[in-house]
Amino acid sequence: MASALEEPLNLAPVTEGQNGTIGANGTSSSTKSQYDPNFTDNVIKATGPKANKRLAQLMPGLVRHLHDFCRENEVTVEEWSQSVEFLNECGRMSDDKRNEGQLFWDILGVESLVDEITYKVAADSGEKPTTTAILGPFWRPNAPIYPMGSSTILKDQGGDVTHMHGSVTDFTTGKPITNAEIDIWHTAPNGLYEQQDPEQPDMNLRGRFYTPDSGDYDFYCLRPTPYPIPFDGPAGKFLKLLDRHPMRPAHIHFIISAKGYKPVVTQIFDRRDEWLGNDSVFAVKDSLVVDFAPKQGDEKAGFDLKYDFKLVAVEDAKNGVHGGTEVTSA
Ligand code: BEZ
Ligand code: FE
Repeated sequence: MASALEEPLNLAPVTEGQNGTIGANGTSSSTKSQYDPNFTDNVIKATGPKANKRLAQLMPGLVRHLHDFCRENEVTVEEWSQSVEFLNECGRMSDDKRNEGQLFWDILGVESLVDEITYKVAADSGEKPTTTAILGPFWRPNAPIYPMGSSTILKDQGGDVTHMHGSVTDFTTGKPITNAEIDIWHTAPNGLYEQQDPEQPDMNLRGRFYTPDSGDYDFYCLRPTPYPIPFDGPAGKFLKLLDRHPMRPAHIHFIISAKGYKPVVTQIFDRRDEWLGNDSVFAVKDSLVVDFAPKQGDEKAGFDLKYDFKLVAVEDAKNGVHGGTEVTSA
């Protein structure tokens, strides 16, 4: 027999007195609930006095929202069992090369939302520090360290070689930052990260670079390619059930860090990309959209990309200068 989630969803409008927040089943209803009115409070009250402080703060809201959600939508045991199996499947599929749990939160926009919450928009407009964006599940620690001017391309698989360059500076003073680490990773032209693809050498299209006193950097990488997030697992099934596509607009990932500065996890996006306004994980922000320019006179690269990173000193952050995240545009 087909499970409920394999049937097309019946999104009949919610009417008063049925299953919506205005119905009789939610605790927020003014009408008497048909369920035990003390149940949710009893679950919340089970937390003991020595509970972890942050959890004790978070759990009442989470439990209340979850219970209200179940009551309002009349979630059945069969549907709940499917959610349990879904989570278990995410766990079974995850290892050091695949993070299905993170992928699930990403397609619901939760990583992008907490990124926005963590790094709040600087209150004043005008110049902003480099905007953050989600890490995603494909970062790997210990990428190779290369001298400036090197290439991260370990195997020729086609693609548009790009000379990327710019500076890393202190957002407040404008001074160059010495010894800032630029950690970069992106997919090959086939849309796969090296850990997803046995045909690519280990650590292909990844690298770390350290800025000299000038704060300037330069290296060779590829103009990125749009690609689908992995959709052969539970997160992919979920996208399908929601009639959603898995595509991400072409992007390059970075973590920029330096002693005394707030690290910036970010991505830059190619303006020409058709998926820019329709990112499956909702991570695009306007200031991270860049233009790749055709490059002449460099036999190694056909494209040029200049991008400057501006970091906020930890001390300045304490005094109210915020890291630069803006509201997602896709
Ligand atoms: C990525 O850009 O690598 C990514 C982000 C979120 C989910 C899947 C992939
Ligand atoms: Fe990516």
